[in-house]
Amino acid sequence: MTDTMYSTTVDFGSLDEIRDAALAVLPADVADFLEGGAGTESTLRRNRSAFERYAILPEPMNGVGDPSTATEILGIGIDLPVLTAPFGGDALFHPDGHRAVATAAADAGTVDIVPEAGSFSYTQVRKDAPRAARIAQLHPFTHAARVADLIADAGYDAICVTVDCPMGGFRTRNMRNRFSPDLFAFSGNVVVADGPGEAGDGPRVAEVMGQLMGSGESAWSWGDLAAAARDFQLPWIAKGILTPTAAHRALAAGASALVVSNHGGRQVDPAPASLDVLPAIRAAVGPDVPVLVDSGIRTGADVFVALALGADAVIIGRAAIYGLAAAGQAGVHRVLTLIAEELRVLMTLSGAATVADITADRLMEVRS
Ligand SMILES: Cc1cc2nc3c(=O)[nH]c(=O)nc-3n(C[C@H](O)[C@H](O)[C@H](O)COP(=O)(O)O)c2cc1C
Repeated sequence: MTDTMYSTTVDFGSLDEIRDAALAVLPADVADFLEGGAGTESTLRRNRSAFERYAILPEPMNGVGDPSTATEILGIGIDLPVLTAPFGGDALFHPDGHRAVATAAADAGTVDIVPEAGSFSYTQVRKDAPRAARIAQLHPFTHAARVADLIADAGYDAICVTVDCPMGGFRTRNMRNRFSPDLFAFSGNVVVADGPGEAGDGPRVAEVMGQLMGSGESAWSWGDLAAAARDFQLPWIAKGILTPTAAHRALAAGASALVVSNHGGRQVDPAPASLDVLPAIRAAVGPDVPVLVDSGIRTGADVFVALALGADAVIIGRAAIYGLAAAGQAGVHRVLTLIAEELRVLMTLSGAATVADITADRLMEVRS
């Protein structure tokens, strides 16, 4: 099997077109699960409006002709500072789920963060796309150390621990829809006494929600995570950091990197936009801690702004899912190439030859 086994080409010209195609094929309740946020969705809106406050300063006649978007995160080289997010229930959007996302990420020279609550096992996704399936996500509950072992055994390089989801947020659209998805779509890594599952391979549904949503385990603390993480064989990234205090606590618990994230507006509402807290978190942890950011990133311009404000790389959630739903692997690949192309154009026009050159002095805060 190769990283390009699903490859076909699609000629979508913009992310809006891809989103339209995605929403046209998804059942209404799945589309709401994808698009929706928590509460009144003010966080969701703020994640987008935060980007409107920044302008990129053109630098005429700057001598940059062929900018490089290559960088690295935790020692993993990537051609593009854009990773694809861990999102559970991936087969609800397309039967190939993260197998297609990871294959597309490999083709684009980047990394997919493979979710615990996904439709396929860590092993399966890594088998399909070993170049991209390098980081795997887990939820920090009592089974965390066991799941971490699965991740290490499957050959991953790092673990992404989602620290902002001890329980699902108050997701209004799902409640209005009485959303009740097939839980097998979330069961690719369900760990029971006899080992991990594959999607749909057995009568394990009753255990899925308890295990993945951590019912009764929302009281897990940084101390619990630090204790579990002492047994991790791999470095780990804390995903879901929105304050300097949480950043310091994550690092004290042993995290090697951070993801500044409000979970795409799906947890606390109202919460600050990730972009708005990013500069303070970068300042608090200093220049050497790898910091990623997600929530609201849709375009190459968004990537430029996030990097200028202190991120080393970004993660895309819904943008990747639009591509997945619209056209599987080829759709995700097109989303990544659109973002890469726009980023390269903006680097050229603003005089940034490398991602390290994308600095705050290339931005201006604007009022309109
Ligand atoms: C449908 C969906 C499912 C998600 N499932 C998970 C998950 O299982 N674990 C997790 O850490 N984050 C999950 N997320 C959050 C994403 O990893 C990411 O933080 C978020 O989508 C980023 O915001 P964006 O969608 O605006 O790019 C999910 C997001 C969506 C849209």
